[in-house]
Amino acid sequence: MTDTTAKHPTLILGGTGKIGRRIAERLTARGLPVRIGSRSGAPSFDWEDDATWAPAMRGVGAVYISYYPDLSVPSAAEAVGAFANLAVQNGITRLVLLSGRGETEAQRAEEMLKASGADWTILRCAWFAQNFSESFLLDPLLEGEVALPVGDVGEPFVDADDIAEAAVTALTQQGHVGQLYELTGPRLLSFADAIAEIGKAAGRDIRFKQISHAEFAAAIAAHELPAEFAWLLNELFTEVLDGRNEALTDGVQRVLGRAPKDFSAYTTETAASGIWSN
Ligand SMILES: NC(=O)c1ccc[n+]([C@@H]2O[C@H](COP(=O)([O-])OP(=O)(O)OC[C@H]3O[C@@H](n4cnc5c(N)ncnc54)[C@H](OP(=O)(O)O)[C@@H]3O)[C@@H](O)[C@H]2O)c1
Repeated sequence: MTDTTAKHPTLILGGTGKIGRRIAERLTARGLPVRIGSRSGAPSFDWEDDATWAPAMRGVGAVYISYYPDLSVPSAAEAVGAFANLAVQNGITRLVLLSGRGETEAQRAEEMLKASGADWTILRCAWFAQNFSESFLLDPLLEGEVALPVGDVGEPFVDADDIAEAAVTALTQQGHVGQLYELTGPRLLSFADAIAEIGKAAGRDIRFKQISHAEFAAAIAAHELPAEFAWLLNELFTEVLDGRNEALTDGVQRVLGRAPKDFSAYTTETAASGIWSN
């Protein structure tokens, strides 16, 4: 265990979100102090209000950085860079960044982090499996039809538990400074494949339909979701799912010394929780 995580709280940005919540649970279970960095944290941390950043990092030993809403939004890289610079100025050098695979803006944020002079580790992740159960894909799954502007491209969905364990390992063990881990699951699945596996595990008939980007934007508007959300999803489906990420990596094996969790383990566990039943 490193001294920084044992003696001082680790600030977990997005500490109530998909990955951050799992990191907080794991560090707490080991008796290590944590501070949740989010708008509901105490003190509150808001990416939109940089006056909240210094109070949130006061007295912490290390930071897990998760940007919100997504590293692909314009100026996300500058915000991550400014945050990392402030942390280093305040003597907090151990920074672990959650990044996205194949995203130009995310890679720019990685460069900003490195330029800050921090003792960095980067977790460059594929699509989270948990987007199907803890995010925007849950409602359409419950409705029985998921319509997305994506075709037959294969994505190596990675499990949130593996990402959280990688973050905890990087934060608590020696030897991960200056390492970039590209984290993927062990199998490429198209969205149609993934949804078929979820339907099978949940014992439900769930259809997948490929639609155009214009149809997708119209569907989001019909659900009265903000235009920024439509822009973000379109960006992700256009930029990341064009085939550039159709490859498996050994990142989970490198950092955790074991194989990544398969999507079928995720669907079995999640179906058993009842979240896909309606
Ligand atoms: N989802 C994926 O498949 C994927 C893949 C690769 C990389 N990523 C990256 O992962 C990051 C997190 O994405 P996610 O979808 O998993 O989100 P998430 O962490 O589940 O987002 C929710 C968290 O963000 C906090 N939050 C919301 N607005 C905030 C604000 N203005 N300032 C500070 N905290 C705020 C929330 O707490 P409060 O409500 O209390 O503020 C909550 O803790 C993004 O940077 C994304 O680029 C995502």
